[in-house]
Amino acid sequence: MSVVAIDGPSGVGKSSTAKETARRLGYSYLDTGAMYRAMAWLCLNRGVTDPVDVLEQVRGVDLEISTDPDEFFVSVDGIDVSEEIREPEVSENVQTVSAVVDAREELIDMQRTIIAAAPEGIVVEGRDITTVVAPDAEVRILMTARDEVRVARRAKELHGNADAEALAATQSQVTGRDAKDSATTSFLEASEGVYTLDTSDIDFDQVVETVLKLVKDSQ
Ligand code: C5P
Repeated sequence: MSVVAIDGPSGVGKSSTAKETARRLGYSYLDTGAMYRAMAWLCLNRGVTDPVDVLEQVRGVDLEISTDPDEFFVSVDGIDVSEEIREPEVSENVQTVSAVVDAREELIDMQRTIIAAAPEGIVVEGRDITTVVAPDAEVRILMTARDEVRVARRAKELHGNADAEALAATQSQVTGRDAKDSATTSFLEASEGVYTLDTSDIDFDQVVETVLKLVKDSQ
């Protein structure tokens, strides 16, 4: 069983790259950010903000997430929140969960269980996959891109274009979240043995081809 670990900041293109790589290899796919988002949705919904209460929510939850790159769903306590977790309110509040070290430990345990159960191989994306969740992964990649490139990509995703208004609306969202996230996870620089894939000046197909080559070379 082979694990491909992909970390990187927001807007760098991790999800589309990880999913396409999983499809092309016939592997499973795990979006760990969706797990933090689902828990953030639950905490928002229940008005929970205190770290001790957040931990209690994470410990008691029935969290399910699909590992099929073509069919995404995530649910908490039987509620399908696949769409709700993408709402700006969730993005803005996700650190209520991701900054709680003990809550992370719980989610990391769940992630390792899912990884171990993958039948062929699995592509896992997040912020701490190459360093904490799966430091022994066969392939470890840190995806990067210049700030302005990431902001433009996220603006297109959220607003359908990257005009001045969309860029202004997206700027602080992207860089602000990264700044806060980097206080808990280290994904702005590659740790030893992790391949840095700068996607600023290459297109999507070239990114995927590079990942597939790294997988091939590791086999
Ligand atoms: O990847 P995505 O942007 O959906 O992740 C949402 C949030 O979940 C991140 O901003 C971060 O706070 C948290 N996260 C994390 N560790 C991961 C994946 C995501 O802390 N492995």
